[in-house]
Amino acid sequence: MTTLATADDAHAWGAQLAPTLVAGDVIALCGNLGAGKTQITRGIVAGMGSHADVTSPTFTLVHEYVDGRLPVFHFDFYRMENAAEVIGIGWDEFFSEPGVIIVEWADMFPGLMPPSTRWFHIEALPDGSRRVTEGPLAK
Ligand SMILES: Nc1ncnc2c1ncn2[C@@H]1O[C@H](COP(=O)(O)OP(=O)(O)OP(=O)(O)O)[C@@H](O)[C@H]1O
Ligand SMILES: [Mg+2]
Repeated sequence: MTTLATADDAHAWGAQLAPTLVAGDVIALCGNLGAGKTQITRGIVAGMGSHADVTSPTFTLVHEYVDGRLPVFHFDFYRMENAAEVIGIGWDEFFSEPGVIIVEWADMFPGLMPPSTRWFHIEALPDGSRRVTEGPLAK
């Protein structure tokens, strides 16, 4: 469990996670709107050494950041209707890529996520800080 007091702390936390990641890793980021999923993704992408400007893939399923140590494929399931829609966009193809997959709102379609997925749960606390917990998705 980690407490992130500010958005900058969330970025730094993502950045320190980046060097620990290897090709094939899948990161699920769960938490309410505004919890900080994209902010943590920014940190991970920056920690890979990418200079990309990270925004949520709102109108496309995925953004690809390929100028760092490992490619990062950044998904957001929030606006997807169902798992079949995600699969139809080419979800399976990304698992043969030597990169890291990050999925915001992965808990919407948990059946799409591989067993090796690292699940992170982000919660906003009343004081504005965020609590990050790693662990399996509660059934
Ligand atoms: N401690 C904190 N950790 C992370 N973000 C914070 C924190 N305090 C404030 N923020 C702000 O909260 C917002 C978090 O937005 P972000 O887009 O990362 O959330 P999100 O979980 O991706 O939301 P969405 O579900 O809409 O995609 C940002 O504006 C960020 O600056
Ligand atoms: Mg987001």
